[in-house]
Amino acid sequence: MLGGRFTFPGTSLIVQRMGYGAMQLAGPGVFGPPKDPNGAVALLREAVSAGVNHIDTADFYGPHVTNQIIRKALHPYPAALVIVSKLGAVRPPDGSWQPAGSPKDLTAGVHDNLRNLGLDALDIVNYRAMGAIHGAAEGSIAEQVNVLADLKRQGLIRHIGLSNVTTTQVAEAQAITDIVCVQNNYNLANRGDDALIDDLARQGIAYVPFFPLGGFTPLQSSSLSSAADRLGAKPMQVALAWLLHRSPNILLIPGTSSIAHLRENLAAAQLSLSPETLGKLYGIGAAAGSVTH
Ligand SMILES: NC(=O)c1ccc[n+]([C@@H]2O[C@H](COP(=O)([O-])OP(=O)(O)OC[C@H]3O[C@@H](n4cnc5c(N)ncnc54)[C@H](OP(=O)(O)O)[C@@H]3O)[C@@H](O)[C@H]2O)c1
Repeated sequence: MLGGRFTFPGTSLIVQRMGYGAMQLAGPGVFGPPKDPNGAVALLREAVSAGVNHIDTADFYGPHVTNQIIRKALHPYPAALVIVSKLGAVRPPDGSWQPAGSPKDLTAGVHDNLRNLGLDALDIVNYRAMGAIHGAAEGSIAEQVNVLADLKRQGLIRHIGLSNVTTTQVAEAQAITDIVCVQNNYNLANRGDDALIDDLARQGIAYVPFFPLGGFTPLQSSSLSSAADRLGAKPMQVALAWLLHRSPNILLIPGTSSIAHLRENLAAAQLSLSPETLGKLYGIGAAAGSVTH
């Protein structure tokens, strides 16, 4: 019902491919509390009741707010729930996004997550490189990955992932420790990671696109709208269904603060796309000039 199951490599963590990204639960600009905290709690509970068992978060969403809402809504957590967090940024009082990649920052970030989520250990933590805001930039991440590997040895992190990284950085991290997932900016119109996705699929590593619906700039395309009309679906649903068709290692974490949108997004996992529709949808990335080979 939710896109089938995926096992993170070398782990006992099994998730439905359709998950939920919690960033939209904080206030405007991912800063401060939401207008409707009870609605945020209700949304999380509905997601989990519907079978979602993969929730993406960060303690710098809010900051702290999103994790505190997750704890309020879902703690004590169901055994099958996998909460994935990330380290590498902080939000000072001016609301900006600042890198926080020193050993001290990363260690403090793990403890912030543990405290606000009410956990003794985090299932998966992504090191979120801050090379560029919405895209990866080259540069060594070895120091940060070594810190996460050490936190794993201490038992505070069970498994390690990466976010906003290049193919070179993935290889650099894999020489240090096992990587179970990569979370980068990717969607129908932004296909710069095509080759990386295929490479990770061969290794059984999850690829988790952030901004699957376009993020702060929602996807808009006449091909997407026509495909949705033909299927009697919404364009955002088709965008999610395309990602599920794109590769079996893609896991979805669409973000929403709306229960109606949550329901639409979960229902997208049941859409079947014909080869003809898929062909037209693949053309969107090519038209946007974002396809790699
Ligand atoms: N690693 C990173 O650097 C990074 C960066 C960004 C995000 N993330 C993670 O990735 C998750 C997904 O990214 P995202 O939330 O930024 O972007 P997204 O999922 O691409 O899009 C979210 C936006 O789409 C809207 N939306 C959601 N479902 C919809 C629907 N069915 N119909 C119409 N509009 C819909 C939401 O508004 P409503 O609230 O009104 O539904 C929101 O404005 C985040 O929640 C976060 O966990 C990670």
